[in-house]
Amino acid sequence: MKLKSILFAVLAVGSVAAAAALFYAWESPLPPIDPRSARATDRDKAKRGASLALLGDCSTCHTAPGGAPYAGGLAMPTPFGTIFSTNITPDPETGIGRWSEQAFVRALRAGLDREGRHLYPAFPYDHFTRVSDDDAKALYAFFMSLDPVNSSTPPNEFPFPLNVRLTLAGWKLLFLRQARFVADPSKDERWNRGKYLVDGLGHCGACHSPRNLLGAERKSASFEGGEAEGWHAYALGRSSQSPVQWDEAALREYLATGFHAQHGTAQGPMSNVVDNLSLVDPADVGAMAYYLASLGKGEGRNDVKMPVPLGPGRLPQVAGAQAATPPSPADPGGAIYTAICASCHEGDRPLPLGGMRLDLSTAVAGETPTNLINLLVRGIPASTGGISRPIMPGFGDVLDDRQISNLANYLRSRVAGKQQWDGTARAIAAARGNP
Ligand code: HEC
Ligand code: HEC
Ligand code: HEC
Repeated sequence: MKLKSILFAVLAVGSVAAAAALFYAWESPLPPIDPRSARATDRDKAKRGASLALLGDCSTCHTAPGGAPYAGGLAMPTPFGTIFSTNITPDPETGIGRWSEQAFVRALRAGLDREGRHLYPAFPYDHFTRVSDDDAKALYAFFMSLDPVNSSTPPNEFPFPLNVRLTLAGWKLLFLRQARFVADPSKDERWNRGKYLVDGLGHCGACHSPRNLLGAERKSASFEGGEAEGWHAYALGRSSQSPVQWDEAALREYLATGFHAQHGTAQGPMSNVVDNLSLVDPADVGAMAYYLASLGKGEGRNDVKMPVPLGPGRLPQVAGAQAATPPSPADPGGAIYTAICASCHEGDRPLPLGGMRLDLSTAVAGETPTNLINLLVRGIPASTGGISRPIMPGFGDVLDDRQISNLANYLRSRVAGKQQWDGTARAIAAARGNP
């Protein structure tokens, strides 16, 4: 044990020294500006920046619960420790009021603060590095047009050596490729626009791609599914496990409204993404859907018809889908399903309380039990802003761990017709908040 900790310390110090040697000390600070000088910005530019900020989910991370927008302070748990987002309002003391445009653009692309200190990649600059000059400057104009809010960021909670920002130089050397987006001339303009937004500001891969032990996205496994704040961000494109193949129209509707009748509702951290996307230019969401659809289709069915157009208040009858195998009374999970789930999920109940057929849901067919268990334990809360969403009661108080596990096993094997998951027990403990 002792040897192990000595080894760890030696390794840690060694890597800090190596990183320091490579990047020698930190990058140069950029001079502070007079906070008033940047405030008088071009209105149109700032307006364009506001829409780009929605595409980049800046407010989702930079706003604490109940706090002023963009004033930071949101605690973000990571596998390595807790990090707090910073105040990016133009407050000269606690925000970015003394940052020049150059300093802001450098932060977005190189992950450095004004003083040249390395920033943690919880700030997705490995994606934002692709953002064009014009867009980065429009974002700056938008943030400088906001009212300054005085609010200090709490200190991060990382163990040594991760609390030494210099170690991030090593991480960047290994994983950060600073490069603007380059359009593929063999593809049309819409495709390129979509890819620019998905890979850049949209940072979709930050959640939807798996990460390695050092917390960097595995480029060889792009969009094969990843973890996000206790939820699973499903695989997209070729590796998608969705029982119904995603096409461009379905993606566009889901991204713009947070719901699609054959794919269900966006939950967990994806609900923030769609809240933001519901407010941007529909052409941008369309371009993202167009690009994503080009990434291929999973093994799901493509013959599910939706004869009743989706209107407010009524879930469509889905033809071409097989009914779930009727549960035998001997199957304890099946008995629970019949008793408490079927009335909402198989009947004609209208939205917001009528749920989709579960044989169409990625939550049951997806790579991990995480989302299904989260839903069963917590339900789907009524939305607190953004777009309105269907609601489902949580069953965490009604069902014990064994019952939830039986129900998940029934849904997985009999309704999705797939092999049972490992890790259901772990997912239940995590959803109940005692991992
Ligand atoms: C996934 C969460 C997340 C998103 C999305 C995000 N940020 Fe951040 N950002 C952070 C965190 C966390 C930090 C603090 C990093 C650190 O302390 O090393 C940060 C730091 C920054 C900083 C450096 C500020 C300082 O005082 O050092 C700037 C500037 C910034 N973000 C701008 C933006 C903009 C603009 C957007 C949207 C285009 C954005 N962020 C989106 C999490 C996020
Ligand atoms: C902060 C993390 C996060 C980000 C960023 C994010 N997603 Fe998601 N996404 C999720 C999670 C978690 C789910 C699963 C939600 C659920 O269970 O309803 C999801 C679900 C989805 C689905 C549904 C997949 C299925 O088979 O049901 C699509 C499509 C999707 N995301 C597309 C995107 C796109 C496009 C972007 C970028 C614009 C994006 N996501 C950015 C976390 C994220
Ligand atoms: C009061 C009605 C109601 C009851 C009871 C109910 N649900 Fe739901 N459920 C909903 C609604 C509404 C949604 C959201 C719309 C949608 O996505 O289908 C939903 C969503 C879901 C989803 C996510 C579907 C997706 O991919 O978006 C799953 C999985 C689910 N429910 C499982 C269950 C299970 C299992 C039970 C029984 C323990 C159950 N529900 C009981 C109404 C209900």
